[in-house]
Amino acid sequence: NQIECFHFNLIDSTMNIAKYWKKIYVTEKINYAFLADQQFKGQGENNNIWISPKGNCYVTFLVKFDSLLCYCLPQLSAISVIETLDLYIPQEKKQIQPVLKWINDIFMNEKKISGVLCKIEDQHVSIGIGVNLNHTPAEIAESTCLKNELCQQDDINIFEFVQNLWINLSNNLQKVVKQNSFHAILDTVRERMMYLNQKVKIYDLTLTNVLQEGIFKGLNEYGNAQLQSLNDPKEIEAIYEGRMRH
Ligand code: BTN
Repeated sequence: NQIECFHFNLIDSTMNIAKYWKKIYVTEKINYAFLADQQFKGQGENNNIWISPKGNCYVTFLVKFDSLLCYCLPQLSAISVIETLDLYIPQEKKQIQPVLKWINDIFMNEKKISGVLCKIEDQHVSIGIGVNLNHTPAEIAESTCLKNELCQQDDINIFEFVQNLWINLSNNLQKVVKQNSFHAILDTVRERMMYLNQKVKIYDLTLTNVLQEGIFKGLNEYGNAQLQSLNDPKEIEAIYEGRMRH
């Protein structure tokens, strides 16, 4: 699957570049990747800032995805990151296996290693992915980077990582389009969920209020969290939005 890649040393945000590029020049067939060494206005979810020092991966993929299945893109992208991280983890380090924290955060060893931000406006979607490869942002509590978790001396090659990431991402996109269903990858996503069968709290997006409490029973077919009531195990509610914590 073809992709044209643009590399920047320092820009505001790869999300902005993708947005402008989309307005000016997109063709039917080609996908684009915008990769930056550093961002000075990195965007996170819920209007948060994504701190973007040198050494990590900051990429936005601009892809044509003309489908009603757009709702599955955040989790499809997150599982693609997980599959890419898997390539770097030796068999004996199973305890640091990356997992997906609902809705679309990637955690390793209980700390955040990567985040995904999808902008779905028309048939072209921007998938922004930040992965801490060689640097743990000190400003972010409970974060980590791949190099640290692997206890290795050499830096992870960012270009190689992005290449592998595109292979996994485009494969998963193709699977979903071909079957015209999220089910094409849903089992893989379900297998990697964090907090499965554990007691969790659902907070609002600012993490100020607890909205609900229950046992996390995995994803329904739309990627919503299924929360089992603490009083009645037969009562299961689908949660669409919020942030999950222990
Ligand atoms: C999150 O808050 O978890 C999502 C973070 C997404 C960060 C990536 S880095 C590449 C792309 N450019 C941005 O400004 N944000 C996304």
